[in-house]
Amino acid sequence: MGDTVKGKPLVSIVSAGLSKFGRRTGLYGRELFVEAVNEAFERCPNLNPRKDIKAAFIGMMGESFEHQGHTGPTVLDWAGLLPIQAFRTEGACGSSAAAIRCGIFAVLSGLSDVVLVGGVEKMTHRATSDVTEYLAMACDFPFEQWNGLTFPGLFAMVATAHMHKYGTTEEQMAMVAVKNHHHGCMNPKAHMQKEVSLEKAMSSRVIAWPLKLYDCSLITDGASCLILTKPELAKTFTDTPVHIIGSGQASDTIGLYERNEYTTLNVGRLAAEEAYRMAGVTPSNIDAAEVHDCFTIAEIVAYEDLGFCKPGLGGQFIEEGQSQIGGKVAVCTSGGLKAKGHPVGATGVAQAYEIYLQLTGQAAKRQVAGAEIGLTHNVGGLGATGVVNIYKRD
Ligand SMILES: CC(C)(COP(=O)(O)OP(=O)(O)OC[C@H]1O[C@@H](n2cnc3c(N)ncnc32)[C@H](O)[C@@H]1OP(=O)(O)O)[C@@H](O)C(=O)NCCC(=O)NCCS
Repeated sequence: MGDTVKGKPLVSIVSAGLSKFGRRTGLYGRELFVEAVNEAFERCPNLNPRKDIKAAFIGMMGESFEHQGHTGPTVLDWAGLLPIQAFRTEGACGSSAAAIRCGIFAVLSGLSDVVLVGGVEKMTHRATSDVTEYLAMACDFPFEQWNGLTFPGLFAMVATAHMHKYGTTEEQMAMVAVKNHHHGCMNPKAHMQKEVSLEKAMSSRVIAWPLKLYDCSLITDGASCLILTKPELAKTFTDTPVHIIGSGQASDTIGLYERNEYTTLNVGRLAAEEAYRMAGVTPSNIDAAEVHDCFTIAEIVAYEDLGFCKPGLGGQFIEEGQSQIGGKVAVCTSGGLKAKGHPVGATGVAQAYEIYLQLTGQAAKRQVAGAEIGLTHNVGGLGATGVVNIYKRD
């Protein structure tokens, strides 16, 4: 994708679907996937799914949650889409952003004019201790997992490093939770639709100091999907496509201990640089962004890595209200991983779903007025995988 013309659409999104996020007791992940797919098909009556869709890329992180691998054909079968070729993409919490990337490759290569990309994870039927262990498989085994490190513990180290280097405070982190819970209250599909005060967030129980309950994303069930096509075909399916005009992905060491710097996630910076360059836009052009707020400190780091503010000023950025709806850039209008929830495999495409709603004026109470350009930032593990996409309304 290095030689693309700046700002020229790589692919177009012609439809999108999302299951209700939450504790979806009694359902399998594949049933949630059908919910997402049905919404996408209903939105796009001109699409004949079994005839038009040529390939499907499905992000899912782990077999352990449902004791089920081979996700591609499993979910396609339930969605009535056999015998379309199906692939699973895996990049930990970035698994379905990787599916979007594969979808872009498939369309740009000319092999598949129309593809379905999506993600799914069913988590809440497992005990928190099991979920924590399964998720930790996305960090280094011999030096991190083996020594008892989990994702709350790893992101707590990012938080303490940021506090030490830049003076970021626990209150500033809690403000991210307050904002995202507020946004989540306006999203009927969010897992948690509940306002949280700063006092409540600050006084919640410690999970891995300085991170408290409200600094952590939710353990959630959910599924997501998008239909992508060549820009020149988009109008045959919908009058209101959304174009992906920039895309970047990068990898870093699996272990945090191998890095020189704990206060930035290099993959976010590198993927963003690539995506901005391709799109021909700058951070100041972004109207709405869904960033990977798996912990509140991760959103503060994302502001800096994406260039919304200078390194070290992420705490100030949230404190000044710059990332709320009506601020400089509306961040996580969906409620983010914090309040909408984080069914890990589904998250990357769920972020794109929110941007699709924003850029087609369908975000209802949480609509960002006049939104034209959006961004998604999806991170796998502690930044071993990072994907940034930039979107533009037609
Ligand atoms: C923070 C965490 C450990 C809490 O789990 P827990 O202690 O088992 O909490 P429970 O499921 O027993 O829930 C207890 C209460 O807290 C609420 N709750 C649980 N997690 C919450 C969260 N992250 N934020 C806010 N409230 C939360 C529940 O809704 C429940 O409320 P209720 O009593 O009113 O029903 C868990 O949410 C977690 O591990 N989150 C991080 C997930 C993660 O690491 N994802 C990958 C990131 S890279």
